[in-house]
Amino acid sequence: MQTSDTFNTILNLMPILFIWFFGLIFAIIVITFIFDTTQSKNAVLKNYPVIGHFRYLFSNLGEFFRQYFFAMDREEMPFNRAERDWVNRASKGNNSTIAFGSTKNLSAPGTSIFINCPFPTLDSDVVENKTVTIGEGYSDNPYTAKSIFNISGMSYGAISKPAILALSKGAKMAECWMNTGEGGLSSYHLESGADLVFQIGTAKYGVRNSDGSLNDEKLAKIAEYDQVKMFELKISQGAKPGKGGILPGIKVTTEISGIRGIPKGKDSVSPNRHIEISNDSELLDMINHIRNITKKPVGFKIVIGHIKWLDGFLNEVNVRGVDSAPDFITVDGGDGGAGASPMALMDNVGLSLKESLPLVVDNIMQNGLEDRVKVVASGKMITPADMAWAICAGADFVTSARGFMFAIGCIQSLKCNKNTCPTGITTHNKRLQKGLNPESKAEKVKNYVHNMINIVETIAHSCGVKEVRSLNRTHIRIVQNNGKSIPMNELYPTCPERENNESI
Ligand SMILES: Cc1cc2nc3c(=O)[nH]c(=O)nc-3n(C[C@H](O)[C@H](O)[C@H](O)COP(=O)(O)O)c2cc1C
Repeated sequence: MQTSDTFNTILNLMPILFIWFFGLIFAIIVITFIFDTTQSKNAVLKNYPVIGHFRYLFSNLGEFFRQYFFAMDREEMPFNRAERDWVNRASKGNNSTIAFGSTKNLSAPGTSIFINCPFPTLDSDVVENKTVTIGEGYSDNPYTAKSIFNISGMSYGAISKPAILALSKGAKMAECWMNTGEGGLSSYHLESGADLVFQIGTAKYGVRNSDGSLNDEKLAKIAEYDQVKMFELKISQGAKPGKGGILPGIKVTTEISGIRGIPKGKDSVSPNRHIEISNDSELLDMINHIRNITKKPVGFKIVIGHIKWLDGFLNEVNVRGVDSAPDFITVDGGDGGAGASPMALMDNVGLSLKESLPLVVDNIMQNGLEDRVKVVASGKMITPADMAWAICAGADFVTSARGFMFAIGCIQSLKCNKNTCPTGITTHNKRLQKGLNPESKAEKVKNYVHNMINIVETIAHSCGVKEVRSLNRTHIRIVQNNGKSIPMNELYPTCPERENNESI
């Protein structure tokens, strides 16, 4: 009886509700019309009042719909769907095979074609991948990194607490290193016990004096952590060479301001270079100063602009003596990612890794420093073919930032600078972080590392070598503008083939 009364009341109210609803819509349209026609800032809205708003709505929504409905598998940037899906499958530990045939255009200039051996390496002939020790003979605590594939710098601040936890737990499980990025060291990095590379950015977050200079005591304290295996001086980052880190004020929480030593809620903008380093000699001074204090291997991260610079720098190393050399150089691609960066720097400044890596390796060899200075390749290295290319070119290690973001759930919504990341990775909004479970995502990080290395091994065995680090430039051809491929050792002939060429 009571239910039918309520129903009747609702029915009686219906006409009034309709009048209110349409009245409200009409009022909004009228107000918008008046606003659009009287304003003078926007020509589209002035000429097309009310309806002009749909243009902005659709162009915003288009960003999302393109990804699902319209973009082809190999079309999107910076990473296309085929690449993202591969990382997704690899991190789930699922079968990473595909069916029917490649969707990749294999005659596009720059495509890598690995040279398969008619007699691939038998499983029974496979050996463990060789390990590489960084700083051996020159540092009190050289570091033998277990994994060839590692996590690139992403600061706590640019990425969230659960993201840091997922990555550090995953790094521990995968036995790879995790770079802290320039935002300092937090308890979340340390919690899992993973190997860490502490990055010293231009603002020296975590190891700074109030004037922005390096605080030696704070640095020594960080070096006391056994987990911190190496120190990386950030000279430049591919996505923003010549510009320091940018963390929008909205992401500078109380905790992050404490870790970095900066005011809460204010944009955190690092200087565009280290104030103490304005030439090669000062760079070497700083590297050696950090090594003396930390007693651990020290290297630097840079995006290459002019290769002649590196030549001059390595020349200076030889003049001072090889013990003064950086223990490693991380070469970042000009097409690298960032939490926030001006578009012009992201798009048009700095050589891509594809161009710079072989030049850097050659230059180190020409200066006779290949045994001393290890090379870490960074920049769009998210699939096994990318990584195998870098090893062929001469890299000792490969790192990835965005690959690991995909592994923990990134959907490339391009919102890292807005604190609205829908997957909780680059936001400090607790509601959005709820979907990012560090435990389950750590498992994905581990799977991603293992599958990545596993497939690079498969490529190596197909090329007829017994382990990944035996790959060299004779094992890969690069497609040219005319559609024909040529061997990488012909493209970059100055690099002598590695002695350990094990082609069968
Ligand atoms: C969200 C985000 C934060 C980053 N933070 C840092 C950082 O603190 N320090 C740094 O040297 N690079 C930082 N990078 C750049 C990466 O370490 C890496 O050099 C670059 O993205 C290229 O690698 P990728 O293509 O694997 O992402 C960041 C990148 C992203 C996407």
